[in-house]
Amino acid sequence: MRAKKYVLTEQEMPRQWYNIMADMPTPMEPPLHPGTGQPCGPQDLAPIFPMNLIEQEVSTQRWIDIPEEVLDKYAIWRPSPLYRAHNLEKALDTPARIYFKNEGVSPAGSHKPNTAIAQAYYNKVAGTKRITTETGAGQWGSALSMCCAFFGIECKVFMVKISYNQKPYRRLMMETWGANCVASPSNETRAGRSILEKTPDSPGSLGIAISEAVEQAVADDNTKYALGSVLNHVMIHQSIIGLEAQKQMQMTGDYPDVIIGSAGGGSNFAGLSMPFARDKINGKNIDIIAVEPASCPTLTRGPFAYDFGDTVQMTPLLPMHTLGHNFIPEPIHAGGLRYHGMAPIVSQLVLDGIVRAEAVQQMETFKAGVTFARSEGFISAPECNHAVAMTIKEALKAKAEGKEKVILFNWSGHGLVDLGAYESYMRGKLSDHDLPQSVIDTALKDIASLPKPRQARRA
Ligand SMILES: Cc1ncc(COP(=O)(O)O)c(C=O)c1O
Repeated sequence: MRAKKYVLTEQEMPRQWYNIMADMPTPMEPPLHPGTGQPCGPQDLAPIFPMNLIEQEVSTQRWIDIPEEVLDKYAIWRPSPLYRAHNLEKALDTPARIYFKNEGVSPAGSHKPNTAIAQAYYNKVAGTKRITTETGAGQWGSALSMCCAFFGIECKVFMVKISYNQKPYRRLMMETWGANCVASPSNETRAGRSILEKTPDSPGSLGIAISEAVEQAVADDNTKYALGSVLNHVMIHQSIIGLEAQKQMQMTGDYPDVIIGSAGGGSNFAGLSMPFARDKINGKNIDIIAVEPASCPTLTRGPFAYDFGDTVQMTPLLPMHTLGHNFIPEPIHAGGLRYHGMAPIVSQLVLDGIVRAEAVQQMETFKAGVTFARSEGFISAPECNHAVAMTIKEALKAKAEGKEKVILFNWSGHGLVDLGAYESYMRGKLSDHDLPQSVIDTALKDIASLPKPRQARRA
């Protein structure tokens, strides 16, 4: 029988996370204080995050020990299996060898618990009693709800309204794990009320939901805020995906020519690709591709600039590719990819040519998801289908060129709570969304007067 899964034992699970900030060719520029425009010190972040996570956020230490308590919870589903997609290869009739890392095996169904466990743990150690957060499709909110339950922390989730209505079962997962979930914009915060006054039927956005969650965290000493992507410490926690994948690829005897991940805030993409990006920085030839929706093309059409992480301008300014904090993407089903910004680490790696980005349309992603489900069986989350679509494109390119490429992609989560989206697709109710340049230009006007990062000034 040919090998299908490459599985590590619990003893082989990595004991340290990898921090690419130790190896990046260009050092990152600092976040800026939203009020003064000056570089943020650790104390500026203290109202939002516990100090132990702030230390990780600014760390340039290459290897960071994973605490025992975190490893103990990781062991519920980690190490996650690496699969060879023989059946997809056959369906595409491609010479490419396709592998995927299955992060859908976590109890919440995606890669998000890799950082949720760590964040809940560090908050617990720091004495946090309550955590607030935002969620798009609900994957992050449900992951954090579960992890707060593990560590006895209260959890409050602001869920983007369009997703709240599209995905009631995600809300019920959060409630089962003991969290309180409300639709954002909500009447519970000043930020939410100000949006509702201007746009009563706002579908919400991750930027608005972040504003609401941060506002509540800042207002109470015992409450902290947790973010499911974008920030450096989140990328560090997610590196466990790529570190495991490196060991598993060794078991296959192959090494990836192409690495692919969907990119919303950048965490599952970075998590899989960063340990390999280190190899690339050290001379390996790998094409590393972040895939985003054409209706929210942060990396492919957004400039590298300083921008707020949220809509109401409460967070520090981050140096990142952005479509502007007031950009509201079309209500596509990949709710976790509807974010105006991108992780500073991923943004910088794009600038430095270590990774590149592609955008795909919604219909192509669902078509790919159905092809994948009918060959490999697994039904992917709509976000994850962006990676599947690009994998299929690359595999067909390899076929056209007659090349035996090795493709590795991150299967970031299952779509069993997203079947409403599949129903809309199969009943012909979904469409692509063209994004006129004028919409981007309008949103970018709101960041024109903000400070510019060095590299944007050079461009
Ligand atoms: C399954 C899945 N994949 C990908 C993403 C995109 O987020 P990130 O870019 O942080 O991995 C999300 C976000 O919610 C998700 O739920």
